[in-house]
Amino acid sequence: MADAAITVEDARKTYGGSGGKHGKPALDGLDLTVARGTVHGVLGPNGAGKTTLVRILATLLRPDAGRVEVAGHDVVREGYAVRLRIGLLGQHAALDEELGGRQNLELFGRLHHLGARRARARADELLERFGLSGTGHKAVKQYSGGMRRRLDLAASLITDPEVLFLDEPTTGLDPRGRAEVWDSVRSLVGGGTTVLLTTQYLEEADQLADRISVVDGGRVVADGTADELKAAIGGDRIDVVLRDAGQLGAAVALLPVPRDAVTVDTDRRLLSAPVTDRMAALAGVVRALEESGVDAEDIALRRPTLDEVFLRLTGTGDRPKEAA
Ligand SMILES: Nc1ncnc2c1ncn2[C@@H]1O[C@H](COP(=O)(O)OP(=O)(O)OP(=O)(O)O)[C@@H](O)[C@H]1O
Ligand SMILES: [Mg+2]
Repeated sequence: MADAAITVEDARKTYGGSGGKHGKPALDGLDLTVARGTVHGVLGPNGAGKTTLVRILATLLRPDAGRVEVAGHDVVREGYAVRLRIGLLGQHAALDEELGGRQNLELFGRLHHLGARRARARADELLERFGLSGTGHKAVKQYSGGMRRRLDLAASLITDPEVLFLDEPTTGLDPRGRAEVWDSVRSLVGGGTTVLLTTQYLEEADQLADRISVVDGGRVVADGTADELKAAIGGDRIDVVLRDAGQLGAAVALLPVPRDAVTVDTDRRLLSAPVTDRMAALAGVVRALEESGVDAEDIALRRPTLDEVFLRLTGTGDRPKEAA
């Protein structure tokens, strides 16, 4: 693809060599294409190969085989050209705890060969952009998790990269810290930066990513938009719980779908059916139940969660580190 920022074809990596003691491949024929200016989510459980992929993309690790290009350059043959064009937010933060946020950013700027004045200007600009201006002088060890991660993000943007890699940017953050980081990531994309982010959080991929690759065992087991992934396991559903299991038969006929599309769970007095128009279905079912005197205890519309998509696709039963 001509406008691809990232192309990965049949990438393979086994730590310690394929004959080595870590015989199981970390990447096992992984394919991925990311269009410029988009956010691509790589979603997978522990050990799926996410960090291995990011390290290969960021030229920190060589693939055993496959073609890997970032910003138009081959990561193996043109590593230097790639490094000039990327930013990386690692899974573990790389900040100096004793220094203030501003000092950290200036240090990063100097490490990237910005002159003292430009490093300072860039630090101020980034602190401002990530809502950290007021705390630039505070030592990083006094920062909250969310602030820390935003500072990390700012550091990864020192050189205004074309392509940015974020390896589990919000793992370990509380919901507020996570929301702050999400906002920051969203604000990047308007500027044309291509972002590849890895996550174990289905909601995160859903919130941020234009497209998602679900990775398990070092390969992509499914990809598409969040909506496409959800559609792949069936669309929205309506769940109806009755007070009286004896009325289940009558209630099936009230749902706006053919009988054989309705799932009946007698023990839980639950009917579940796929719907196309959520609100129309909800209104219609409430009315029909009322008119026919069927007593419902609960009615809920729900989309299949990415959790369901994920579990269905990887079949591992692995859950994200933090329950959604
Ligand atoms: N340095 C290493 N030496 C040997 N094996 C490794 C090394 N790093 C990773 N692995 C193995 O490679 C596989 C993929 O690991 P990787 O770190 O890429 O997964 P991940 O998706 O990033 O997981 P997590 O969500 O836990 O960060 C795992 O089986 C892991 O044990
Ligand atoms: Mg990892």
